[in-house]
Amino acid sequence: MLNKNEKKKLLSGIQPSGQLHIGNYFGAMKQYVDLQNDYDCSFMIADLHTLTSLKDPEQLRSNILDVYLDYLAVGLDPKKSLIFQQSAAPQVTELAWIFSTLVTIPWLERAHAFKDKSAKGLTPNVGLFTYPILMAADIIIADGEVVPVGEDQRQHVEMAREIVRKFNAEYYSDIFVEPTELIKDEVAVVPGVDGAKMSKSYGNTIPLFASREELQSVAMSVVTASVPKGTPTNPDDSVIYQLYKLIASSDDAEKMATGFKSGDLGFKDAKEQLGEGLDAFIAPMRERRQNLDIDQAKKDLAEAGLQVSAQYQDKIDQVKEIVGLK
Ligand code: ADP
Ligand code: TRP
Repeated sequence: MLNKNEKKKLLSGIQPSGQLHIGNYFGAMKQYVDLQNDYDCSFMIADLHTLTSLKDPEQLRSNILDVYLDYLAVGLDPKKSLIFQQSAAPQVTELAWIFSTLVTIPWLERAHAFKDKSAKGLTPNVGLFTYPILMAADIIIADGEVVPVGEDQRQHVEMAREIVRKFNAEYYSDIFVEPTELIKDEVAVVPGVDGAKMSKSYGNTIPLFASREELQSVAMSVVTASVPKGTPTNPDDSVIYQLYKLIASSDDAEKMATGFKSGDLGFKDAKEQLGEGLDAFIAPMRERRQNLDIDQAKKDLAEAGLQVSAQYQDKIDQVKEIVGLK
């Protein structure tokens, strides 16, 4: 059980399925950094989840290290937070198996990740189908009470909560704590350059560590309404403004909003401002990332994996005792 004098446990993770983007940053990573002093934090590189979609070993290997370096570059501190690779602790998959014997197929069929794929006419693999169980095991084995995520992950944390209830009820146990999602309203869904949710899988992202040139060019590709120059528009309907207000000072954001409302600010100028703003915002993180000691990072990541695995072994031993495997 948790010692109430300790800080609350927080766990979250990101899949190493491609280059991270500002949706990941504002929806999830920024909260990680803001919360790392107030909680007992663990941040995962969810590599097992990525296997459901990525079958390129070299790419996966390099993405895993990239996400770790990205975590450090945005300001996570391995001395304060446990930052580790999901697959380093195989106890999680053992627990996921035990959970899979508690939930039903119709219950899993409600999950978005699976429903979305099926709706697109794709046949999901079993890993994608059982993905919420693995995610529940990630959270629950760590005694995660607080789970900072973007809106798209809300349902998965709810499902983890239901699994805790099912397990505790089935085995008359109180070994697990119910997790709660932490979702910031203003950044719950960051739009991509096409106006849909920004996502690695939609090809509409603004990469978090892009060069100045890339940022300027991606800013120019943001969709705009087709209205004649000089037409007053509502800034809240504009993807340019929605993105700009994430990275600009409130004064600058206000100026852009006024320009849209009066019609004085053309879309081309607004996109240039967005490109400049993105570069100013990202430059310090980009620089920090370039100066990281990669060998040290690899060592720290491997050590964290061993530490987590040892920690989780105690928990899985207790679970095996409870369900009768020991
Ligand atoms: P992606 O959809 O790009 O593959 P992930 O599923 O790996 O992103 O998400 C990692 C974290 O970033 C999750 O907490 C997720 O909710 C958050 N996130 C991803 N995209 C966005 C977005 N566009 N807006 C807000 N949060 C997001
Ligand atoms: N499924 C999450 C995503 O795609 C990543 C993830 C895996 C996660 N395990 C987790 C997030 C545990 C929070 C907690 O974004």
